[in-house]
Amino acid sequence: MKASHLIMKAREAKELSYSPYSNFAVGAAIETEDGSVYTGCNVEIASFAGTLCAERNAVFKAVSEGHRKIEKIAVVSNVPHTYPCGICRQVIREFAKDAEIYVAGEGDEYSTYTLEDLLPHSFGPEFLNK
Ligand code: THU
Repeated sequence: MKASHLIMKAREAKELSYSPYSNFAVGAAIETEDGSVYTGCNVEIASFAGTLCAERNAVFKAVSEGHRKIEKIAVVSNVPHTYPCGICRQVIREFAKDAEIYVAGEGDEYSTYTLEDLLPHSFGPEFLNK
């Protein structure tokens, strides 16, 4: 799927954001290696630490449906350039190490990043004895 189309899916997902505490709505859309698309929004709860970001929501939906490799990720909010938080970057590291990450900018613009751009020298599964 084209980046612009995935960003559109992320925008649709953002509309379902449950973010009454921050009023900061985020949407994400991902494409897996077989072309499946999953979306997610941020979900906040009154005990704030339990909040789930849009990106992790989308990734975990895909993983829980049996997908292990994600190739594209789009992130949008109501402001330009909302970057994945640190925890989401580590989750992306696990399932989307080589993904293209599209961060929506103004209007139709977007910036494309690699995980290496966002989380250099990252820790990952290959460091563990398995
Ligand atoms: N949030 C996301 O969903 N993704 C990001 O990339 C940044 C932050 C959410 C978490 C919380 O619901 C709200 O945005 C404010 O931090």
